[in-house]
Amino acid sequence: MLTLINRNRFFYAPLESGAAARVRPPGTVANVVCGFDILGFALNEPCDEMIVELSDEPGIQIINKDDYDLPTIAEKNVSGAALLALLEDSPDVKGLKLTSTKNIKPGSGIGSSAASAAGVVVAANHLLGNRFSKEDLVRFAMFGEKVASGVKHADNIAPCIYGGVTLIRSIHPLDIVSIEAPPLHVTVVHPQIEVRTADARQILKHQVALKDAIKQWGNIAGLVAGFIKGDYDLIGRSLEDVIIEPVRSILIPGFDEVKKKSKEAGALGGGISGSGPSIFMLSKDAGTAQDVAVAMKEVFTRIGIDFHVHISTIKTSPLSAEFV
Ligand code: HSE
Repeated sequence: MLTLINRNRFFYAPLESGAAARVRPPGTVANVVCGFDILGFALNEPCDEMIVELSDEPGIQIINKDDYDLPTIAEKNVSGAALLALLEDSPDVKGLKLTSTKNIKPGSGIGSSAASAAGVVVAANHLLGNRFSKEDLVRFAMFGEKVASGVKHADNIAPCIYGGVTLIRSIHPLDIVSIEAPPLHVTVVHPQIEVRTADARQILKHQVALKDAIKQWGNIAGLVAGFIKGDYDLIGRSLEDVIIEPVRSILIPGFDEVKKKSKEAGALGGGISGSGPSIFMLSKDAGTAQDVAVAMKEVFTRIGIDFHVHISTIKTSPLSAEFV
């Protein structure tokens, strides 16, 4: 079917009610230690699974197939808010039905809300003949992130949609830069406590000492340069956060010890994943990433907090959907 949308461009789109697309949006690590709100990368695992279907029923219907008891009213649901934003720009589409199975626990710090928001807009775009750019999709998905944390930020959404390491130079206007990176292995430990992003943002200081800002700028520039040059030592040296981590790490029992033991096990470095409580570490090779997992497990076992560990590489491909 040839479809005209509001930008005077023609697209082929299967707009039959019942057409459905499936997507597996991955977890993401936002901030990457020193790049609060501006850096993130995508993981290969864990992933959620979502199916978005064209519907004759106006608006967004939501079916949750997991135990997280997430809202089913579109405006209050992260995926729903993102799809509503996409519908605003899709006057030819009546409604969408979402069936969502979340494996990334909300409040984990590995981009659960971003996976919910980014996944559905990528699936809907697939149904609509890929009429929207990746940047448009980030714009829609940020409405979902706002439901989750009260603020629009794209440091989970952009890597989820683009893949790889992304720099969000600006969100007004959106300016997303994909950053080359050498092969890296990521170990993520998720202690089974919940830290709400909104709370973890609330406790941050609003003013920064100039000497700390200078240190942070040096680290962000060093980290980006380290990624592009494939300089593992520079990456390791730059994984330092003198602004956010000292405040947020008090919410995560065992944080300092996990960091110390992970580095002793060979990790290049790491820190809080997103707003926590997950902690991530980067390693040069798979064997070291395994050793880091053992070190992390020892710490949380000793302090008596349940945890899950994920070992992954950085997912470099953009998020795509398939018809089902
Ligand atoms: N940059 C955001 C924060 C990521 O740290 O609050 C939240 O996942």
